[in-house]
Amino acid sequence: MSTLLEVSGVSVSFDGFKAINNLSFQIADRELRAVIGPNGAGKTTFMDIITGKTKPDEGRVIYGDKSVSLLKMSESKIAQAGVGRKFQRPTVFEDQSVFDNLMMALKKTRGPLAVLFFKQTQEDSDKVADLAEQIGLSGALHRKSGELSHGQKQWLEIGMLLAQDPRLLLVDEPAAGMTPAEREHTTDILREAAKTRAVVVVEHDMEFVRRLNCKVTVLHEGSVLAEGSLDHVTKNEQVIEVYLGR
Ligand SMILES: Nc1ncnc2c1ncn2[C@@H]1O[C@H](COP(=O)(O)OP(=O)(O)O)[C@@H](O)[C@H]1O
Ligand SMILES: [Mg+2]
Repeated sequence: MSTLLEVSGVSVSFDGFKAINNLSFQIADRELRAVIGPNGAGKTTFMDIITGKTKPDEGRVIYGDKSVSLLKMSESKIAQAGVGRKFQRPTVFEDQSVFDNLMMALKKTRGPLAVLFFKQTQEDSDKVADLAEQIGLSGALHRKSGELSHGQKQWLEIGMLLAQDPRLLLVDEPAAGMTPAEREHTTDILREAAKTRAVVVVEHDMEFVRRLNCKVTVLHEGSVLAEGSLDHVTKNEQVIEVYLGR
């Protein structure tokens, strides 16, 4: 498998506090990866660096077939280059139907004017139906998004990101506030999504991470503490110390 993203020797400080400390990380094309670690470990900052929201003080972030540096690119250029990110804040238009939200997300990939002057083709409608199926909302296509459950809104957001067909998808704590059944469905969506793109999932819930059934990176104090299967990393003494206290 070829490397899609390579982060090496990245550090960033906020007011003298090293939130990310000489961090190195690689992910291959169509790889699913879980990133875990205690609160304050630097997980969100790590995603901020990849997406260009935060610029590191040192290190390299190299992406794609042409090995471009993401550090020189703006957030919007990085998104255009195929890096999608799911934020915690909702980006769903609550007054619009599930169908319309997905359709708008699909059109957004063709530039802002396409959203204004769109002509709905059968192909687009089929694509929206496919997306709804991927996120388990086929039965809710014509419901107002504001009426969806918390979990369903999160899935819709994932669907809106998938509509833009990112090559690397980053999701930060997607299962927060979900019921156990919703969590299960979310792991299914992410595993399926990772068949056609790389997906990085930050998540606290170990049961969720176990269901993802993928390689795990443990972050602690801004560095990688351990990496490997969940069974492998949870046997690591330093990981046990960090999670269970000293
Ligand atoms: N913009 C910022 N300014 C100052 N400190 C920050 C900023 N962003 C994050 N931090 C600090 O960096 C550390 C890592 O935060 P974060 O990446 O949010 O951790 P995690 O997502 O793993 O919980 C924390 O101690 C946090 O307080
Ligand atoms: Mg966080």
